[in-house]
Amino acid sequence: MGASQEMAAFWVLCCALFTAVSSYSVLDEKLLFQRSLAEIARVKSTTDHIIDFTVNGKGQNQTYKRLAEFVDKFGSRLTGSQNLENAIDYMLNTLRSDGLENVHGEPVTVPHWVRGEESAELLQPRSHPLAILGLGYSVGTPPEGITAQVLVVRSFDELKARASEAKGKIVVYNEDFVSYGTTVAYRSNGAAEGAKVGAVATLIRSVTPYSIYSPHTGMQDYQDGVPKIPTACITIEDAQMLWRMSQRGEKIVIKLTMGAKNLPPAQSRNTVAEIIGHKYPEQVVLVSGHLDSWDVGQGAMDDGGGAFISWQALSIIRQLGLRPKRTMRAVLWTGEEMGIIGGQSYWERHKGNITNFDLVMESDIGTFTPLGIDFTGNDQATKIMKHLVGTLLTSVNASKLSSPAEVSDVPWWIENGVPGGSLINANQDYFFYHHSNGDMMTVEDAHTLDLCSAVWAVVSYAVADMEDMLPR
Ligand SMILES: *[C@@H]1O[C@H](CO)[C@@H](O)[C@H](O)[C@H]1NC(C)=O
Ligand SMILES: *[C@@H]1O[C@H](CO)[C@@H](O)[C@H](O)[C@H]1NC(C)=O
Ligand SMILES: *[C@@H]1O[C@H](CO)[C@@H](O)[C@H](O)[C@H]1NC(C)=O
Ligand SMILES: [Zn+2]
Repeated sequence: MGASQEMAAFWVLCCALFTAVSSYSVLDEKLLFQRSLAEIARVKSTTDHIIDFTVNGKGQNQTYKRLAEFVDKFGSRLTGSQNLENAIDYMLNTLRSDGLENVHGEPVTVPHWVRGEESAELLQPRSHPLAILGLGYSVGTPPEGITAQVLVVRSFDELKARASEAKGKIVVYNEDFVSYGTTVAYRSNGAAEGAKVGAVATLIRSVTPYSIYSPHTGMQDYQDGVPKIPTACITIEDAQMLWRMSQRGEKIVIKLTMGAKNLPPAQSRNTVAEIIGHKYPEQVVLVSGHLDSWDVGQGAMDDGGGAFISWQALSIIRQLGLRPKRTMRAVLWTGEEMGIIGGQSYWERHKGNITNFDLVMESDIGTFTPLGIDFTGNDQATKIMKHLVGTLLTSVNASKLSSPAEVSDVPWWIENGVPGGSLINANQDYFFYHHSNGDMMTVEDAHTLDLCSAVWAVVSYAVADMEDMLPR
């Protein structure tokens, strides 16, 4: 026991005596908090070692090298594809050879959408090829394509106001980018809203704040009772050009050809690996990211980075010969891009064990320079986590704690009381690359990935090694 640990133990005792006069629940709360502070102080020398190993030592560049090898080998990994299953097999083998425990796949039935051949061409007022990417779940066009006049609108409101002009046309949305959360409604609902007013297809300006002529794909939702019409995204540049042409009163005609198909569901797997806890093996700290991607680029950023820092968090602990009190579990989700299929399946399968889930973490919003943790939990858990990141992550400049956690694969756990965390990172350029051919390894940086892995390993290890579970 080091001097700082003795001090911490002494402080716990003092605190216990000092608070003995207050009520039991307040006493419990204060005791737990003081004990947590002592636990955080106790693990600091170990987590400093984790950081040093990852950022300056033998672990340096490891996340980048592993991720680059993976995405260069498999490329993109669309839900339902054989290529994704090959990539999952590779990960299962690799996690086993890395010395992790209880490595296995958990079956998930997933949708199987295929893009097929696709193209679009402006025929009037002049001939010009349009870069497109069909949207997930879109139906295709007849083999000869759809040739139709175009109605360009800037919003759903404008579409409603001009509904009488939409029948038989290809509706083009040239909506401004406000934020991903707001603007993505055009990608999600553009086809259904167009079909309601009689459109034969929809083309949607890509949901990104910036473009060098890049189409950005993603999922869209048809609505029950509304005809399913083909739908694709186009570039900001083309959407704005079509809008300018329409404002000048020019007649616009586009030919759209899409071979997209929805095939019968396929079998996939969530990929799981663990370091089994030595004292509370049934209790779990979960770290996660998704292995599937869109069928463009390499899925290096979305979400290769998140998946690989989650592997790395466990790998580093194993390489250092450490074993925390409770189990660290990495789950690499499948089917995220087609509707959080793996995350939901995992919740259904494991929710019976919710009392044993201490903390659920997910990284799916970039692995750029890490700044801290976004956290959802009760006041007491938030106080403990604030102290944890403030104490253990200052040396990597990632000591910020804010709320709420930003997650897509683990919301059910958090809604049902399990504390949740996500990675705050300098991801202001995330949507430049998102769901586009630009999502390649070039977006990732070796040092930045080291820092992200260090943050992920430190937080998950420290929480897994504390005597008490986080309050909830
Ligand atoms: C990591 O990459 C940097 C930059 O290329 C290099 O200087 C450093 O030596 C590498 N470290 C290891 C351990 O390979
Ligand atoms: C729930 O936890 C128990 C005890 O650790 C374990 O035996 C069981 O396999 C777990 N069940 C699930 C569905 O994870
Ligand atoms: C943290 O920030 C300081 C000041 O900006 C900088 O000198 C240092 O290199 C940063 N550390 C890391 C690990 O990025
Ligand atoms: Zn993602």
